[in-house]
Amino acid sequence: MTNQPHILLTGASRGIGKSIHEALEAGAGRVIGHASRAKGNLVGADFAMPGAASDLWAQAMERLDGRVDVLVNNAGIFQANPLDGSDIAWLDSWEETMRINLTASAELCRLAVRHWQETGRPGRIVNVASRAAYRGDSPAHWHYAASKAGMVAMTKSIARGYGSDGILAFAVCPGFTMTGMADDYLASRGGPELLKDIPLGRVAETSEIADIVKFCALDAPPSMTGAVIDANGASFVR
Ligand SMILES: NC(=O)c1ccc[n+]([C@@H]2O[C@H](COP(=O)([O-])OP(=O)(O)OC[C@H]3O[C@@H](n4cnc5c(N)ncnc54)[C@H](OP(=O)(O)O)[C@@H]3O)[C@@H](O)[C@H]2O)c1
Repeated sequence: MTNQPHILLTGASRGIGKSIHEALEAGAGRVIGHASRAKGNLVGADFAMPGAASDLWAQAMERLDGRVDVLVNNAGIFQANPLDGSDIAWLDSWEETMRINLTASAELCRLAVRHWQETGRPGRIVNVASRAAYRGDSPAHWHYAASKAGMVAMTKSIARGYGSDGILAFAVCPGFTMTGMADDYLASRGGPELLKDIPLGRVAETSEIADIVKFCALDAPPSMTGAVIDANGASFVR
């Protein structure tokens, strides 16, 4: 890793991504943060729109003087998609979640890998997936679980495919992580009952997930490539 790694981080406006942004900057990275719309220093790109990921990559490359060393794919949505909606509503919701959570991440991973192959430089990818990749999710969130499982499989494929080029890939799988007011957050995830299922007795703090992402992005030994790191208070142990 160079003295000042150049980092592209998606979904940096709030929640886990905001904490990752702070942690990476504290770790001396030069970070370009992203959100669905431009805000302050954050680059805007709505991943629901085709071409948004490649536009973001181009803007990040420009702001980072043509060099990205680390890509962190954190942006994502968690929106209910009930089975009893209309066929087209269910399909639209499935495709939107796949596009934002998985396809945009895949496009950015591809651009990053090609950048490192062309320049001969090493690089790191950190994909923020979810406990849902392994455990599944609620009946209204098949698409979310599938998108995160896809992210884990993609991460492993990249780690296995390009390790010999110095390209490393990690996935982080948070369980419930407090991203807003406690009551609102718990209500959005099914209410206080969910705490009974977490042996630690609480959901994760965003700073805990950020510490793991920062470790993978900046410090993890190369032999860890391909690792998927759980952070779920032992609510799912595999
Ligand atoms: N919180 C949890 O309990 C939990 C658990 C497991 C995994 N995760 C994963 O962790 C990551 C961060 O989650 P979070 O809870 O911190 O999310 P959050 O607070 O809802 O923030 C989501 C981030 O993604 C961006 N985003 C949303 N829709 C987008 C779109 N159409 N195009 C581009 N960017 C978009 C948002 O930008 P705007 O501000 O512009 O909307 C925001 O920066 C996600 O991948 C999520 O699946 C979260």
